[in-house]
Amino acid sequence: MNWWYNRIEIRIWECFMKYTQFAKRLTKMTGIGSLMEDMGAAVQEGSATRMLGGGNPALIPEVNALWRRRIEEMLAKGTELEEALTYYDSPQGKRSFIDALAGLLNDEFNWNLGAENIAITNGSQTALFMLFNILAGTGEDGAVRRLLFPMSPEYIGYADQLLDGDAMCSLPATIEETRPHFFKYHVDFNSLAIGEEVSALCVSRPTNPTGNVLTDEEIRKLSRLSANRDIPLIIDNAYGAPFPNILFKSANAYWDSHIILSMSLSKLGLPALRTGIIVASREIISALSACNAVVSLANVSFGQVLVKPLIDSKEILAVSRNLIRPFYQQRLALALEALQEAFGNDFLYFIHEPEGAFFLWLWFPGLSISSMELYERLKRRGVVVVSGHYFFYGLDCPWEHTHECLRLSYAPAPEQFREAVEIIADEIRRAGIR
Ligand SMILES: Cc1ncc(COP(=O)(O)O)c(C=O)c1O
Repeated sequence: MNWWYNRIEIRIWECFMKYTQFAKRLTKMTGIGSLMEDMGAAVQEGSATRMLGGGNPALIPEVNALWRRRIEEMLAKGTELEEALTYYDSPQGKRSFIDALAGLLNDEFNWNLGAENIAITNGSQTALFMLFNILAGTGEDGAVRRLLFPMSPEYIGYADQLLDGDAMCSLPATIEETRPHFFKYHVDFNSLAIGEEVSALCVSRPTNPTGNVLTDEEIRKLSRLSANRDIPLIIDNAYGAPFPNILFKSANAYWDSHIILSMSLSKLGLPALRTGIIVASREIISALSACNAVVSLANVSFGQVLVKPLIDSKEILAVSRNLIRPFYQQRLALALEALQEAFGNDFLYFIHEPEGAFFLWLWFPGLSISSMELYERLKRRGVVVVSGHYFFYGLDCPWEHTHECLRLSYAPAPEQFREAVEIIADEIRRAGIR
């Protein structure tokens, strides 16, 4: 049990939530807070936890060697180190990095971006927090503008980001059984009504938690629907092309003037450098930069200085294509093998088709305990996962499915994953399926 559940902390939360909407949203027990606490505890020295819970990227030796090489170059060369450490940059981000990135994206995708289309933030999580609250919530006229997630389940990190929590809504995915023990979620376009009050749409692609990759056709349809209503479509591309490119099926990158594309250096292997990237219209970039100045003054420069030469030389594309993607593809194959061996045919389970990112999303139809209870039982046995219910927010109606899923990361070492799924299988057998 982590400190969120400690009674003293709960009293502190109750004390603050009397004050503001901000305190109410941000100081309570949240799924993302619990997940980050679990992850922090697991990286403490000596922790024997099998940590399948967080979104930490794997340690890939060849990729880490690249960061070392770059740091040695920074130490040896001219003023790179000073540039990374000793200046507050513009709140939009480092101009040399932004120019390099615009060049790379234009060369790769023909997007015709200028520097005015890109902003840097301290992590894409922070960018999304600012964007959501710019785009949705109660307006000066008293009307509520809503942020719509067209396919639930969605990323746990969005759930508590909107200060006006009621301004968030989600549409349940439809479920397609694709082959024995596998399924795939789709956007339910037949039920997707984008009412007047909806002011933005948001999807992650590849999707965290499920590993789904919305098809090009689904993205085109969502884009058309949002363009027709003149509202932005946020596409969170933290795992996508052109870096880190953790994509196992072909899917085209997509941008247009009403698209807000979110990217990050985190899943390349640099989560500690807190570098998020937003590609959007000039107006959105200006608004985000203004917000960034108020909230952060400026961004962490280190990641931008470290990575810029790899963008100039396009080495970042080769690293993503030839090191990062194959690494996760291999981990995925081992994870699936371990899971299928451990689960056998003793109980009913489904795995979401793993098309990208580095998570396996499991569904146990008819599980006799809730996924949260399963999480607790597993944690007592040294296995940390994420209960699926956290990823279903903003839904109108109860849905049993929301308590039948777990998210596992397969970024950790394969032996750890194998031990963990054997314990999961044992707990499911004990709990039973109704
Ligand atoms: C889908 C998605 N979006 C955004 C983020 C935030 O990443 P960061 O703030 O490290 O850029 C994450 C992190 O796990 C994620 O999975």
